[in-house]
Amino acid sequence: MPQQLTLNDGHQLPALGCGLYKVDPAATEQVVTDAIAAGYRLIDGAAFYANEVEFGRAVRASGQRDRLLITSKFWGDPIMTRDQLLLDFERSFDELGVGPLDVYLIHWPRPSRGTYVDIWRGLIELREAGRVRSIAVSNFGIEELRRLIDETGVVPALNQVESHPWLPQHELRAFHREHGIVTQAWSPLGRGQILAEPVLQDIAAAHGATPAQVVLRWHLDLGGSAVPKSTHRARLRENLAAESLQLTDDDHRRIAAMESGRRTGSSPASRQ
Ligand code: A2P
Repeated sequence: MPQQLTLNDGHQLPALGCGLYKVDPAATEQVVTDAIAAGYRLIDGAAFYANEVEFGRAVRASGQRDRLLITSKFWGDPIMTRDQLLLDFERSFDELGVGPLDVYLIHWPRPSRGTYVDIWRGLIELREAGRVRSIAVSNFGIEELRRLIDETGVVPALNQVESHPWLPQHELRAFHREHGIVTQAWSPLGRGQILAEPVLQDIAAAHGATPAQVVLRWHLDLGGSAVPKSTHRARLRENLAAESLQLTDDDHRRIAAMESGRRTGSSPASRQ
């Protein structure tokens, strides 16, 4: 059973999940099937990934829907209104075809639209209507989280943001801790680019592990969740096996020194 985190709404979330961003629709059914067979219980999708039909098909074929956490996200571009949210939610719901979703997220706050609080109210209604179990956000900053909490009184279950040793997001993680929000990392392996770092290779060699496992164990040790993507069966297994690795304090000091602020994906400021 994968390591679990408890969300602020009382539900459990496996700390490691399988991310479906940049998984080609033609490969998605196989990746989801392999991930479930490898032991993943959290599979992270989004309307924007354009593979929800294949994602849902694999979940139904597995016969294990009840053991899985299925997520999707509202994209919000070009239109970020409550009406569009409801249309997009129904579309994801139908395309996935797996019943109520486990987690539904606002993909980007897009602050220039000025509607994210209203969209958040829409998510609250979807939860009250039993269409989704937990509601959450992605790529939100501290000020935006504060507004959601102050104006609706409902704290997101998690905030999914880019994070890896180059971009540990300490300030945001501290805010999350204070408010009971789980930090969930997207591109937790820095899109694979970070794995060539000599420090990670060195630590991995000392433990008979791989750089990807070292990075994922680091995410777990920070108390967060991470949704690495891989289209390879062996890597899906390798990544989940990070749970059994143990890092030393010295390993953590060396990984902490890797912080550079480097991003491997879009910044929230670029998604208006
Ligand atoms: P692939 O899908 O070919 O396995 P992130 O989750 O940070 O966005 O990183 C995803 C990238 O890292 C993908 O290019 C993926 O390639 C690669 N990747 C995922 N797991 C591993 C691993 N265990 N070892 C090496 N590369 C990996």
